[in-house]
Amino acid sequence: MTPEAPPEAREEARRLREQIEYHNYRYYVLDDPQITDAEYDHLMQALLRLEEQYPDLVTPDSPTQRVGAPPSDAFATVEHQVPMLSLANAFSAEELRSFDARTRRLSGAEQLEYVGEPKLDGLAVSLIYEDGVLVRGATRGDGQRGEDITANLRTIRSVPLRLRRPATLEVRGEVIIRHEDFRRLNEERAARGEPPFANPRNAAAGSVRQLDPRVTAARPLDIFCYGLGRIEGQEPATHWELLELLRDLGFKVNPEARICRDIEEAVAYCRGLEEKRARLGYSVDGAVIKVNDRRLYERLGATAKTPRWAVAFKFAAEQAVTQIEDIVVNVGRTGAVTPMARLRPVAVGGVTVSRASLHNEDYIRAKDIRIGDWVVVQRAGDVIPEVVRVLAERRTGQEREFRMPDTCPVCGARVVRPEGEAVARCIGTSCPAKLLEGLIHFVSRPAMNVEGMGPALLAQLVEAGLVHDAADLYRLTHEQLASLERMGDKSAANVLRSLESSKDAGLERVLFALGIRHVGENVARDLARHFGDIDRLMNAGYDDLMAVPSVGEKIARSVLAYFDEPRNRELVERLRRAGVRLTASQPAAPSGALAGKRFVITGTLSRYSRREAEEHIRSRGGQVSGSVSRNTDYLVVGDNPGSKLDRARELGVRILTEAEFEELIR
Ligand code: IVH
Repeated sequence: MTPEAPPEAREEARRLREQIEYHNYRYYVLDDPQITDAEYDHLMQALLRLEEQYPDLVTPDSPTQRVGAPPSDAFATVEHQVPMLSLANAFSAEELRSFDARTRRLSGAEQLEYVGEPKLDGLAVSLIYEDGVLVRGATRGDGQRGEDITANLRTIRSVPLRLRRPATLEVRGEVIIRHEDFRRLNEERAARGEPPFANPRNAAAGSVRQLDPRVTAARPLDIFCYGLGRIEGQEPATHWELLELLRDLGFKVNPEARICRDIEEAVAYCRGLEEKRARLGYSVDGAVIKVNDRRLYERLGATAKTPRWAVAFKFAAEQAVTQIEDIVVNVGRTGAVTPMARLRPVAVGGVTVSRASLHNEDYIRAKDIRIGDWVVVQRAGDVIPEVVRVLAERRTGQEREFRMPDTCPVCGARVVRPEGEAVARCIGTSCPAKLLEGLIHFVSRPAMNVEGMGPALLAQLVEAGLVHDAADLYRLTHEQLASLERMGDKSAANVLRSLESSKDAGLERVLFALGIRHVGENVARDLARHFGDIDRLMNAGYDDLMAVPSVGEKIARSVLAYFDEPRNRELVERLRRAGVRLTASQPAAPSGALAGKRFVITGTLSRYSRREAEEHIRSRGGQVSGSVSRNTDYLVVGDNPGSKLDRARELGVRILTEAEFEELIR
């Protein structure tokens, strides 16, 4: 039995906590510390010692508890009491003015005052406080339901665990990573052989959705709060007052927020912010213009997904000018030889870009891209940066044309570009580049999901001759792993553990992991569900394959060719002997409201990520495929739809807006 804390100790702990909270607030929220780091550590150590001596003193809101919770298996789902809506977009000053005209008409106001704020490109979260204590934090999820990530949000220093006054309210904000921290985080990951995050938003989203809060705690996350779910007691009359209230309670509010007396000031605000964008130090993809008078919100109301009192002014994709130092080729796991521009490093949207995909030879010819050219590059969303255009006026005559190599730079085998295809491929059967890329794909998250096995480790294993194909991974011993550079006993044990659990990933993932050409996640899932186990699939003929909903001619032939190859059959046998489960995890026959219905999605949905929308369809027995055909039942259309929409119209496929889709899955 540990002794109960005497009153003096209790008082001392309270005093220390108060001091630490105050200094946390100065440091993390106001960015204006009053004491040195050493003095701060001293206070923290004193509190830790006291709590260790008297464990009954530990409270969930103690500053020592920011990293305390044990990892969980999954996140619980939480229902948002007030839905977390998204924002309608405006792409020009004109669209902002029509937003103003509409809003004035609906509200009956002659002139409307607005608040302008940066539209932060991070992850939206909800924070619930009861009597001033943080009791729950959740992701936005689909807007109605999110994930309970309380333990993770508690680790973010600028999330107050206790407010400066005992208020009961739900606050909304955006979790972000600053560019500088993002760069450092990626450098650290590279040093450990872990793959870098593509951009700060992915890094922030990945970090708050960690099952182990200790991992989240080690990530440099920050938050800005900008909204209210609900509040007990007096509601602030204006949005500006709300921001002041949040600031008073101890939340971090973005310093770029401004009152705009009318829409012209709001337009000027958007332009000013866009101009300032690159200097903010964090990713902002637009400005949000909100009606200041909150009393009008109810009258203005909302559509199914967006409130009528706010609009997002979207900035153009960030571009930069740099020089192509060289064009090199990259060999992928299917042998595809892809030209890649090596760029003089340049910052675009907070990410240092040093290469850009050039797709294939035809692309290079069409844009007349040469080595030594000055070019405009752009990062749009998640995609790898691309070369938008060449600045021909900066040519000196020294530029060189690119020629696709005849032989693979990695194994020396011939590079072949079949008639009518854009892609050139290495035909070497034992090309190490193909092997390494294939292994990286095999262990990746959507495939076998082997945690802790990054590209650097795989490269070491291939180089050391320990791994010649995916099945060899399952024969690795603790000794072999622990003897590699940057691997200790502990990491070796972790890798072995995740390899072990990956054996039960199921046929869906195994089929995707094998890297059969044209077999993506969707097709792999359909094949696994249709055939149930790998033997039935390997024995299937062309017609059997064509009976699978998402399988067309090209895929059927590719699957047949894959299993025709003795080496591939042998790999399957070796995986089987290693104990990898080769049966499907899901029942073969679909059931549910959308059973048998075939969906295709195009464009960006505002309330769901692609993956979420697909999950909704599948969990109701529907199927999702990547292209529209006569067999498609529905095309779900989001923002900026692609050519699939034209194709669906041509074929008379039923087209669903996002709202109609929601209706259907409800
Ligand atoms: S207000 C109902 N303010 O944008 C109003 N949202 O497209 C929506 N976002 O999910 C929230 N910065 O993740 C608001 N200053 C800001 C924002 C902001 C970023 C995000 C948020 C939301 C998305 C809506």
